[in-house]
Amino acid sequence: MDRKITIAIDGFSSTGKSTIAKQLAKKLNYVYVDTGAMYRAVTLCAIQQGYISPTHFDEAGLISHLPNVTLKFVYNTEIAHSEVYLNGVNVEGEIRSMEVSNLVSKVAALPQVREKLVEQQRSMGLEKGIVMDGRDIGTVVFPDAELKLFMNAGAAARAERRTAELIEQGREVTYEEVLQNIEERDYQDTHRKDSPLQKAVDAIEVDNTTLTLEELFDKIMALVNSVK
Ligand code: DC
Repeated sequence: MDRKITIAIDGFSSTGKSTIAKQLAKKLNYVYVDTGAMYRAVTLCAIQQGYISPTHFDEAGLISHLPNVTLKFVYNTEIAHSEVYLNGVNVEGEIRSMEVSNLVSKVAALPQVREKLVEQQRSMGLEKGIVMDGRDIGTVVFPDAELKLFMNAGAAARAERRTAELIEQGREVTYEEVLQNIEERDYQDTHRKDSPLQKAVDAIEVDNTTLTLEELFDKIMALVNSVK
């Protein structure tokens, strides 16, 4: 059977979710949605408006500002994937900064933020033919997804990969600060009250500590073909 399905990819930070999701979307001609980019864009907005900093968080202020926050994805043909826009401005570069990475888990813990973003995510998936990655896609956003993956890898391997990626983008980061950020986000994302990161009971766990990207992709394509 060849039908359009929904693929939900969840897992810890920097486990290769987005790399795999992008490759799958390209191969299957599906839409790819990076939900982490949405939480990051709301965080960037909160920083810009002065609602959050490393020393304070005006939760009520951010919540009342949410109706003024518009997010959309625009496909960039040059890089062959979509970029996130915050109130009409492309923020794809800015949302990857360490400043945003260090604050995003606090913003993502707010139920009002989650409610707004989950609604938008569900509407993007109405037609199926979608690969979405995040932390709650298989558990909350698309509990009926035909294929759910839960990606994992050791923290050190993840920090190494992420540091190399950020340095390649020209950012000044150290392995130690990236590792610390990954460990803190793992803790906050798994311990928040609303939609904590957890493996859906019917998700297939994929450990990406030692696999090459090619091996991982082949393994996941076999899973996709088994449910399509
Ligand atoms: O995927 P990422 O590392 O870019 O995500 C950034 C943060 O956003 C992550 O630490 C937790 C939050 N997030 C979330 O709570 N739910 C999602 N579906 C996606 C991301």
